[in-house]
Amino acid sequence: MLSYKHGFHAGNHADVLKHTVLIYLYNLAKKHNKSISYIDTHSGNGLYKYISQYMEKNKEYIHGIKKIEKYVGENKLIKKYLNIIKIVSKNNFYPGSPLIISNISHNSDKLYFCELHNNEFSNLKKNLKQFTNIKNINADGFEYIEKKLDSDKSYFILIDPSYEIKDDFIKINNILDNIEKYKKSKILIWYPILNYDDNDKFIENLRKKGIGRIINLEMPIISNIEERVMKGSGLLIINFKENKIFRDLKALSKELHFYLKQNDDVYNPKVRYL
Ligand SMILES: C[S@@+](CC[C@H](N)C(=O)[O-])C[C@H]1O[C@@H](n2cnc3c(N)ncnc32)[C@H](O)[C@@H]1O
Repeated sequence: MLSYKHGFHAGNHADVLKHTVLIYLYNLAKKHNKSISYIDTHSGNGLYKYISQYMEKNKEYIHGIKKIEKYVGENKLIKKYLNIIKIVSKNNFYPGSPLIISNISHNSDKLYFCELHNNEFSNLKKNLKQFTNIKNINADGFEYIEKKLDSDKSYFILIDPSYEIKDDFIKINNILDNIEKYKKSKILIWYPILNYDDNDKFIENLRKKGIGRIINLEMPIISNIEERVMKGSGLLIINFKENKIFRDLKALSKELHFYLKQNDDVYNPKVRYL
């Protein structure tokens, strides 16, 4: 039985990065498409309470949303993210990806939210009950996209596993090995940087696949010390064609890093094509 609950991590630096980029890319996709079919393979609850046994435990949000919520700088992506978070979350709650996307989607968009674990799934249903353009699916998100997609279908897919088991990295590799199947879809994949050496190997392995069309953004937050804590996180952004994305993500990563890094000697953020 897996014990991961996103409530322990909600609003942390990884959520800030992932949700800022998700909102940016979804809004960009809206400009080019009358309606979007969206799949969140690993949805979580949709809404997390600050004062709860989960968020209170490690208070990860203090190193995430709390460091940036009073942002007065000029970065448009951060301002948009904060704006949406403010509108979407009720007092004392941080929203998850399904609630964020449900709120910024058009009625004509179709949203599919997969969540494997029963408790999380029943909370997800409760937290999204006011939306009519969604379908909640109590199933394995990897299997769901494997079955649902073929190379003629065009979806916007967020793949945000917990990486509680190493298998999740293998499954990401499998998706990239089968990338032809997803050639019409836009994909955003989140991953943790648990250890810088292993992370370099993971990325080198992806680069060797020679796929192209992948932008990789990495945000190191904690320097290379021995402790077993997440050091930062990264995103793989696949099949998004607009040139400005690279520039916008460079500016975003520099600004977020300034606010979120926890050590002065931590590595710089990276934005690169793989
Ligand atoms: C990192 S959390 C998702 C957070 C969410 N995407 C967000 O940004 O708010 C991962 C979620 O995936 C669920 N999960 C784990 N394995 C899964 C699987 N194979 N398919 C679907 N959901 C899974 C976990 O229960 C957990 O709620």
